[in-house]
Amino acid sequence: MLSKKLELELNKQLNAELYSAYLYLSMSAYLSENNLNGFSNWMRVQFEEEQAHAMKFFKFILDRGGKVELEKIKKPSTEWKGIIDVFENVLRHEEKVTGLINNLIDIAYTEKDHASVAELQWFVTEQVEEEATVSELLDQLKMIDGKGAGLFMLDREMNTRKFIPL
Ligand code: FEO
Repeated sequence: MLSKKLELELNKQLNAELYSAYLYLSMSAYLSENNLNGFSNWMRVQFEEEQAHAMKFFKFILDRGGKVELEKIKKPSTEWKGIIDVFENVLRHEEKVTGLINNLIDIAYTEKDHASVAELQWFVTEQVEEEATVSELLDQLKMIDGKGAGLFMLDREMNTRKFIPL
């Protein structure tokens, strides 16, 4: 059985994952409006991944006999200053999520809730991968100054990304 504190914190993280999904869907729309359909596809896959993260928390709370409480999802931004700005924001956002996961795992340790620690370890690994992928993409975008033929080529490559169920 989950403690009330962990139940509350896991519900907050469920909401944070849904917000991440919302943010990336908004970015996907912005990128499509700016004729970057490959990056728009990449971001839509990101949206699907975040929904899957949210569902992992949803299932875990229920499996542990907790109560799922769905709160309001914050409205994401709709405008950015271009593709580099988008990815700088993604990286900052993922770093923030890593902090939230680390904080959650600290609470799980304090409460000696081993099942939560085990579940959260998956997210610790996932965040390392997410930050590395976004950081690499951001470096590539900076290399080509976020424009021209380089951007055209990279956009085509981004179109190949597909969602792989977790
Ligand atoms: Fe759910 Fe992008 O971390």
